[in-house]
Amino acid sequence: MTTNRTFTMLKPDAVENGHIGAILDKINAAGFKIVAMKYTQLSTRDAQAFYAVHSERPFYGELVEFMTRGPIVAAVLEKDNAVEDFRALIGATNPAEAADGTIRKMFATSMGENAVHGSDSDENATIEASFHFSGREIF
Ligand code: CMP
Repeated sequence: MTTNRTFTMLKPDAVENGHIGAILDKINAAGFKIVAMKYTQLSTRDAQAFYAVHSERPFYGELVEFMTRGPIVAAVLEKDNAVEDFRALIGATNPAEAADGTIRKMFATSMGENAVHGSDSDENATIEASFHFSGREIF
């Protein structure tokens, strides 16, 4: 994977609330190309591994429970400066602090249930994409 790619998940709250189409529209309108995508559900083991970096944080159990409670959409997105531009598009982790027009401002409900994930570095984008997709599922 090159540095013009990032990884995202539309989280269980976004799926439950019927926001898949609207969020994908915003992603496309912002100039991102979808180069991998799947509708899937994380097992407890998957979520524990994906969020292992947060395992000592007080919200870890809540985070794993939330991320496994229903299906998600996982995707790899391509655009120049993808990681940084996508984090700007989704807005702050806490939707109360997210800028107007960002995905979290529009669709997230709380700090924990914040609608969408975006990788925080090129290195993590590669690791996270590999967690969900094999080489022949990324185009
Ligand atoms: P994200 O940045 O995608 O990945 C880590 C997630 O942990 C974050 O989104 C939130 O969903 C969750 N998270 C971060 N901080 C808190 C918090 N203080 N309380 C509950 N959940 C949190």
